[in-house]
Amino acid sequence: MDHLLEMRNLSIDLYRGRRTPPVKLVEGIDLNIDKKQNFGIVGESGCGKSITCSSIMGLLSFPLSVGAGSSIRFQRENGTDTELLSLPKKQMQQLRGKEISMIFQEPMTALDPMYTIEDQIVESLRFHTDLSRSAMREAALEMLRKVKIPRAEEILKEYPHHLSGGMLQRVMIAIALINNPRLLIADEPTTALDVTIQAQILDLMNELRESYDTSVIMITHDLGVIAETCEQVAVFYAGQVVEQASVDDIFHHTAHPYTSGLLRSVTSLGGEQKELYTIRGTVPTAGQFSSGCRFADRCEHCTARCREAVPPLTEVAPGHQCRCWLHASGAEKEAAR
Ligand SMILES: Nc1ncnc2c1ncn2[C@@H]1O[C@H](COP(=O)(O)OP(=O)(O)OP(=O)(O)O)[C@@H](O)[C@H]1O
Ligand code: SF4
Ligand SMILES: [Mg+2]
Repeated sequence: MDHLLEMRNLSIDLYRGRRTPPVKLVEGIDLNIDKKQNFGIVGESGCGKSITCSSIMGLLSFPLSVGAGSSIRFQRENGTDTELLSLPKKQMQQLRGKEISMIFQEPMTALDPMYTIEDQIVESLRFHTDLSRSAMREAALEMLRKVKIPRAEEILKEYPHHLSGGMLQRVMIAIALINNPRLLIADEPTTALDVTIQAQILDLMNELRESYDTSVIMITHDLGVIAETCEQVAVFYAGQVVEQASVDDIFHHTAHPYTSGLLRSVTSLGGEQKELYTIRGTVPTAGQFSSGCRFADRCEHCTARCREAVPPLTEVAPGHQCRCWLHASGAEKEAAR
C-alpha cells in the first residue's frame, strides 16, 4: 500500500425503520492520505465531513452504518495493512487513541468534568502503555509543556471547567498526541475559539507537526484554515467529493463553482473584501438529492444537462479532480447521454 490511509468508495447509510430503505448520507468517497501529510476536508455544515472521519475511527453507531462495498485501509505501526472496517471491536479500541486519534470542535464535551487534566492524560497512556504512574505523570507534564501550557504542573491538578477554551483545546491536542499517533483527525479544532486563539492553536499544530511523524486530517468549513495548515484538500458537498487537489491548485486553478463560492466567502485571507459573501441557497438534505448535480440549485453556471445526470469526478489536470459538467471530457458527456 502506497499511502498511510486509503479510503475507497465509502458510503454511509442512515437507517429510518425496517420498511424504509436507508438514505445515503455520503457516497463514493475516495481519499488517499500520505505519511506526514496534512490533508484538509472542507465544506459547509451537513456535507458529511465529520461522519466520514468518524467512520475511520470506527465511531459510527446506529442509525448510521458504513455501506456495502466501502473500504478503509490503514498502514499499521507494525507495517501491516489493515482493513479498518472489518477490524474486531477490541482491536479497533486498541488502535483508537494510539495509532489514530481525534481532536473535536468542543473540548468541553470530550473531556470528563469529574476528572483532573492529569487523570485524563494518564488514562490515555494507561490504556496503551505499561508505564508506571510516575512515568505517566512525567510524560503528561512534558506533553503539556510541548503544547505550551503555562504553569503545567498546576494545570495538571485542575479540572476542565477551570480552563479557558484555548487551554482546553491545547489539553485535547496533548491527549491526542501523547501516544504519538500515525494519524490525527482534527474536527474543526478552532471554530469554537476567538480569532486570536484560533491562530495560536493553528500555529501550535503546525509546529508540533514538525516534531511528530503524524499525518493530519484537518476538517473545517473555512478555506482560510486549509491555506494555513494543509498541502492537499478534498472539497465535500452534499455527501460527495466535488473537487480534490493540492492546496495550491485549489486556490490558483479553482475548477468547481462550489469551491469558487467557498473561496469568495473566506474572510481570513487578504484584506480587500468588504462584505462577507455567502453562496445563495442551502445544502440539500440527504434523501432529497436531485437526479443531476447536487449543486445545481445554487450554481450560476447550471445548464439543462446539469439537472439530468450526476457529473462524474474527473481529472482536470494531473492530481486535480473535479465533479462538474463544465470540466468533463467529451467522452464522459457522451457516456452520460
Ligand atoms: N446520528 C445521526 N443521525 C442522523 N443523521 C445524522 C447523524 N449524524 C449525522 N447525520 C447527518 O449526516 C449528514 C452529515 O453530517 P456531518 O456531521 O458529517 O456533517 P459535517 O459536514 O461534519 O457538518 P458540520 O460542519 O456542521 O460539522 C447531515 O445531514 C447530518 O444531519
Ligand atoms: S455540473 Fe453544472 S450545476 Fe453542477 S457545479 Fe457544474 S456547472 Fe454547476
Ligand atoms: Mg462536523
